[in-house]
Amino acid sequence: MSYYKINNLEEYFKHYKKSIREPRKFWGKVAEENFTWYQTWDKVMEFDMAEADIKWFTNAKVNITKNCIDRHLAKRGNKNAIIFEPNDPKEAAQYITYNELYDRVAKMANVLREQGIKKGDRICIYLPMIPELAVAVLACARIGAIHSVVFAGFSASAIASRIIDCECKMVITSDGAYRGNKTIDLKSIVDEALEKCPTVTTVLVAKRTNTEVKMKEGRDLWLQPLLDEAIPNNVAEIMDAEDPLFILYTSGSTGKPKGMLHTTAGYMVYTAYTFKNIFNYEENDIYWCTADIGWITGHSYILYGPLLNGATTVIFEGVPSYPDFGRFWEVIDKHKVSQFYTAPTAIRSLAKESTEWVDKHDLSSLKVIGSVGEPINEEAWHWYNDHVGKKKCPIVDTWWQTETGGIMISPVPFVTPTKPTYATLPLPGIQPVLMDEKRNEIEGNQVVGSLCIKFPWPSIARTIWGDHQRYKETYFSAFPGKYFTGDGALRDEVGYYRITGRVDDVVIVSGHNLGTAPIEDAINEHPAVAESAIVGFPHDIKGNALYGFIILKEIGEYRDRDNLRKEINEHVASHIGPIAKLDKIQFVSGLPKTRSGKIMRRILRKIAEGDFSNFGDITTLLNPEIVEEIKNERL
Ligand code: PRX
Repeated sequence: MSYYKINNLEEYFKHYKKSIREPRKFWGKVAEENFTWYQTWDKVMEFDMAEADIKWFTNAKVNITKNCIDRHLAKRGNKNAIIFEPNDPKEAAQYITYNELYDRVAKMANVLREQGIKKGDRICIYLPMIPELAVAVLACARIGAIHSVVFAGFSASAIASRIIDCECKMVITSDGAYRGNKTIDLKSIVDEALEKCPTVTTVLVAKRTNTEVKMKEGRDLWLQPLLDEAIPNNVAEIMDAEDPLFILYTSGSTGKPKGMLHTTAGYMVYTAYTFKNIFNYEENDIYWCTADIGWITGHSYILYGPLLNGATTVIFEGVPSYPDFGRFWEVIDKHKVSQFYTAPTAIRSLAKESTEWVDKHDLSSLKVIGSVGEPINEEAWHWYNDHVGKKKCPIVDTWWQTETGGIMISPVPFVTPTKPTYATLPLPGIQPVLMDEKRNEIEGNQVVGSLCIKFPWPSIARTIWGDHQRYKETYFSAFPGKYFTGDGALRDEVGYYRITGRVDDVVIVSGHNLGTAPIEDAINEHPAVAESAIVGFPHDIKGNALYGFIILKEIGEYRDRDNLRKEINEHVASHIGPIAKLDKIQFVSGLPKTRSGKIMRRILRKIAEGDFSNFGDITTLLNPEIVEEIKNERL
């Protein structure tokens, strides 16, 4: 029997049990039956949680791009691997078949080798969402170079710190990027970053916007002429299962960014397996994830997971609001997308607009719709379900992290009954546990605690680049012997998990543990509210009190702000309880957000506390100007 696909709930439980009782047998079988290996493993897995030392498929030899591309050529050579949908809908989409992808990756890999790149070298990729980005990532993997993709929205100083940390030899970038109605000069940002990066000897520059750029003699080269000269054939590097595949930096709320290191075989097996199951991928489906390849979601579920399954994956260069709020729905209609995977923040921003934007497009091709990155609030869940999924597409609320490499807790569509705001059940191989403050495992259901994982899974990050000690301390020391996620969760009466947010977002008010996420959910349901963020601030009597930063919809009837404050609090009281009432409500025009759409609560907490002394690094914010406004209008 095959374990690669879960077909019904009974099978889910059967596979899950097998994966827990005999993890090595389970993953050994999945790995053996679904991938091409140069040589199989001596041991499926070895680990030492205390040392945070984890190895999968010891001594196996493999190349992930052989599995993403070469092995599909016989059967799927003329199938589209990538559909590129440009920022401007007037520009034609591009369709890249598996045969073409092979040629392009081979040429790029040859260019890298000609430029002196060898297995183990680090390459920083700073590109917009264009096909060259996918090709560059895969070309690195082809020759065993370690890619470090930096989201092409990060500032020069953020790029520089990432390049310096892992000592990149090369940067691959473009002249510029299109984003909605803006053009961003990427190359000049790279130039500024490189003033501080002596290790970089070569910069390859793709052309996208035809922006004029400065080319530094002896360092910068236009990519296209090199590709034109290159041979469309390449022998893949033979990689050890545990050879590094990539580094990806996580924002890390304080201190320097953490370069999470993912290795080859375990990551390959787990991303392929989860993609297949969580998106119910079938041969002729068109799959679209709206994330940027600069984030883990893009690595695992735009590139590797889909391509490992021979899927057609859409790469979208644009934004949800350009040229209008119907852009996502238009793309779904145009390419007949079957699986759509996006973030709650995008859903909420589109739900604020008229439903006509959705209704005028034919979304009948959709089969599964997904959510990732933050808790999806009830209102957004229902809007997504009603207007996008038309109540017929299961919503996969997928919980996972940069560190986990792949999706950990999620419904399997058409298998696991969904429940709004619940990520539901762990995938095979994943053993979540909830821990209390005394570091004891909380047994049973209807409980809340810190979410840990008590057994290694194939795609767990192996270390933080250059700092294994920090890796151990961050993830394996709070609850010895277990991987600590930093998230809190509750387990309901049937064992479904609901992620309540970062553990540091829990506020203790008068001795009561209050998760800020459910309070925000309640507030967001108020008809006048577009979005909210709640933080705790010190209070003489209660210990902590709640401070709400609230964005209002444009609704004229709520002109009396004090009345509205009262109404919102009544709403909270009736949804959660009077204990959850907010002491202060500040109406704001925006919230400080990271480029991946997460609210930077650290800053809001400081403002609520009245401590304006040190906001830490705000360079990664999408809208740093909002901080000043919120600060000036603090209550
Ligand atoms: O707090 C959880 C939240 O996002 C964190 C991981 O962020 P990052 O490494 O940037 O990866 C995001 C994409 C995988 C988690 O610790 N998170 C992610 N997915 C969910 C979520 N919170 C609730 N529900 C989710 N589905």
